[in-house]
Formats: sequence, structure tokens, C-alpha cells
Amino acid sequence: MKRLGILISGRGSNFEAIAQNIAAGSISAEIAVVIANRPEARGLATALRLGLNAVCIPSKGLDREIYDRMLLEELSRNAVDLVCLAGYMRLLSATFIRQFPNRILNIHPSLLPSFPGLDAQHQALDHGVKISGCTVHFVDEGLDAGPIILQSAVEVLDGDSAETLSARILQEEHRIYSEAIRLVLAGNYRIEGRRVTLT
Ligand code: GAR
Repeated sequence: MKRLGILISGRGSNFEAIAQNIAAGSISAEIAVVIANRPEARGLATALRLGLNAVCIPSKGLDREIYDRMLLEELSRNAVDLVCLAGYMRLLSATFIRQFPNRILNIHPSLLPSFPGLDAQHQALDHGVKISGCTVHFVDEGLDAGPIILQSAVEVLDGDSAETLSARILQEEHRIYSEAIRLVLAGNYRIEGRRVTLT
């Protein structure tokens, strides 16, 4: 059984959707550890309630290299095969990324490469796009930049606020993140340059 390490910073709804799919048997993996970099992350309480191995390693004030080394130790202690960033709002160092080549996934609330970084839904509204969505991608050393595994498009409606748009995108996030994890764990894909194709 493959072992997932999930990194969160806040609410943790993507993590919860993954946990539900695992519990329902639709992802065959186990959550080895949930790590939050903020003590107040709501997802931490959810993980504990679900009886999962959940730890907080506060990142505040710590140098990225030092912090990431602490993360790597925790992940290796838990023999993690695949790292899933689920609303983890911190860049990872090159050292960290090299330890998990093509073994780190991220979910982002826009159709990348549009609107990387913070407040992607706000950025989409400000830009006036008619379609946005979400993206699951492998993590490389760029910001929201690695090869794309799955995307889902969500229409931007005239009356949308950042909240209403985010809520509709989030539903799709919950669906495609689990789908992408299944796909990666099954290993039925090839990465050629930036393109991820199914085999
Ligand atoms: C999600 O919308 C996720 O796509 C986004 O943060 C939210 C976390 O929600 N991530 C990013 O913007 C990363 N650049 P959650 O904690 O409920 O899963």
C-alpha cells in the first residue's frame, strides 16, 4: 500500500476529500502523515478527529532550507511514497523537491499557467476571464509550474464574487485531486517535457 504524506496550511478540505476517498476504497493508499505548518490550520483538527497521524511543524520565522529539512525528516520517518500539497501555502526548496522527483503533487485553483501564486480566484475575476478552474500538477522548482496532470474548467458567472467562484472551483478540486492521485499511484502515465500522457 502506497503511503501518502499530506501537507496543509489551513482549512484542509482537499485533504479531507482525499481521506474520504481512501476510506471509501476509491483510492488505494494510506495517509501516513498529515503535516501542518501552522498550528491554527483547521485541517489539523480534522486529521486528529479522523484518527490520523497528524503533526504540526510550525514554519514561522524559520529559514526555508532548515524548515524543509525538518519536513523531510518527518516524511522519511513515516516512509512516505507520495507527497500531496493540499493548500500548503509555502514554497518548497530545491533540496526538498529533489528528494521526491515527480513524487510531489499540488492542487491550484486556476487553469495554470494562468494565475499562479496567491488568490488565484481573485486574479481570475480581476482579469475578467470567462472560464477558470483548477489544476493538479507535479511540483518542480517553479511557482505552480510543474507538468500538468489534470485540469477542470469552471465557468465564471456574471454575479460571481471570489467566494462563490472559489466554492464552485473547490468542488472540482476535490474531484480531480483524488483522480490525479489514483492515476499517479497506478503509474499509467509518461512525462515527456511538460506533457503528462496516459499509457
Ligand atoms: C484550495 O483552493 C487550493 O487549491 C489552494 O488553497 C485552497 C486550500 O483549501 N491552493 C493554492 O492556492 C496553492 N497555490 P483547502 O485547505 O480547503 O484544501
